[in-house]
Amino acid sequence: MTQDQQHTKRDGFSSAFGVLAATLGSAVGLGNIWKFPYLTGANGGASFLLVYLMATLLVALPVMIAEITLGRKARANPITTLIALAPSHQPWWLIGAAGMMASFLILSFYSEVVAWVFAYVVKALSGSVLSSDRAVTEAAFHSLIADPVQSLVWQWVVLASMGGILLLGVSKGIEALTKKLMPLLFLLLVLLCAVSLSLEKAGEGLAFLFNPDFGKLTGAAVLTALGLAFFKLSIGMGTMMTYGSYFREDQNIPSTAVRVMAADLCVSLLAGIAIFPAVFTFGFEPAAGPALVFITIPAVFSQIPMGQALMVVFFVLTAIAATGATLSLMEVPVLILQECFFLPRRRALALTLAMLALTGSLCALTNSTLSGFTIFGLNLFDLFDFVSSNLILPAGGIFIALFVGRVWGFGHFRQALSNEGQLRNETMARVLFFLLRYVSPLLIFLVMLKGLGAF
Ligand code: TRP
Repeated sequence: MTQDQQHTKRDGFSSAFGVLAATLGSAVGLGNIWKFPYLTGANGGASFLLVYLMATLLVALPVMIAEITLGRKARANPITTLIALAPSHQPWWLIGAAGMMASFLILSFYSEVVAWVFAYVVKALSGSVLSSDRAVTEAAFHSLIADPVQSLVWQWVVLASMGGILLLGVSKGIEALTKKLMPLLFLLLVLLCAVSLSLEKAGEGLAFLFNPDFGKLTGAAVLTALGLAFFKLSIGMGTMMTYGSYFREDQNIPSTAVRVMAADLCVSLLAGIAIFPAVFTFGFEPAAGPALVFITIPAVFSQIPMGQALMVVFFVLTAIAATGATLSLMEVPVLILQECFFLPRRRALALTLAMLALTGSLCALTNSTLSGFTIFGLNLFDLFDFVSSNLILPAGGIFIALFVGRVWGFGHFRQALSNEGQLRNETMARVLFFLLRYVSPLLIFLVMLKGLGAF
């Protein structure tokens, strides 16, 4: 089969803009609305943001470009891609296997946070959370996560919805919907920012977000920032390789990646600007942890006319963005089960969902039934997040960078990056290759050692 035939068979994206929108659909999700604000709040604000930015530019962006390029070259799932491109007997496919593991760990807690978002659509409809009173919004969130039945049932609703979307083959429809609704989420965030910036202590919130105090920065925080950069761009585990396998031959990969990164960053910053002025004005705790968005956003909406209706819209749009990201996470194990274990798509899907119902419930019950259960001082929700975001994704990044920089080599990389000579981007290829060969792997390695307390 020629590559062109394979391309059509794999049902690639139809237009350059479609590629951009779909990649953005994977990148923008709860990482922007939920994780970025809470980690920035918990790790001291501006200094964390700055490290996160550097990690994105120096490490995450080159790794993202590397992943997409490899995926497009081999047009397969991550395991098959690495088997096809590596010399025989070198086990680089283990990156794909680790990625499959990471996707289960991430989906286990991610599906629970999507569950909270779903539940908040209903809470917002009922009007029970719209308040600037910390006691009210905190109690509303707590009553949700501390109830094992609600936590589990909402997670099952999420998993069933994802299964339904994939089974009915409407993920293309969801993609189209995301494409249309994403600008709306963007606009709503801009409105929220305007409201938040008019609050009494907006200045304090902005100073927290943009005025760095490096005294607060620890090795662990630097590793968390790096992990967040990977998480937000969906890299280090093969999602972007999978997406790359659907990229068009004439797609400009670096420019697509830079746009995705920039748009993703904008959404995060807007979420941060919407949240932190409210945190300081209404006396919330910046370090409130995973609860942060859920307890502060209602306070912002409580300040505007039609706040309740707009808050419903906000959680619906967030749920849709999170659905796109969740589907992209599921694509890795499902595709591996299909292409490497030869399961029919339905069975691959059923197996993935059944696994998730099990491992996911461990995260769903973290704040109720399993609240006393910790490993290395972390509850299971935080442990799954730590192991995936701070260990597997960065380690995956090291090996992807080393694979391109040391095994695949400059010739192949430049050739693929220039669309077989169609684009004049030799200098960029050189810079990226240098980063991948020398800078990214070493930097990730040092940050991991420091973050884990090795020196
Ligand atoms: N990037 C998504 C978000 O910010 C989450 C996500 C989707 C992801 N696919 C991934 C994270 C693959 C890591 C790896 O919400």
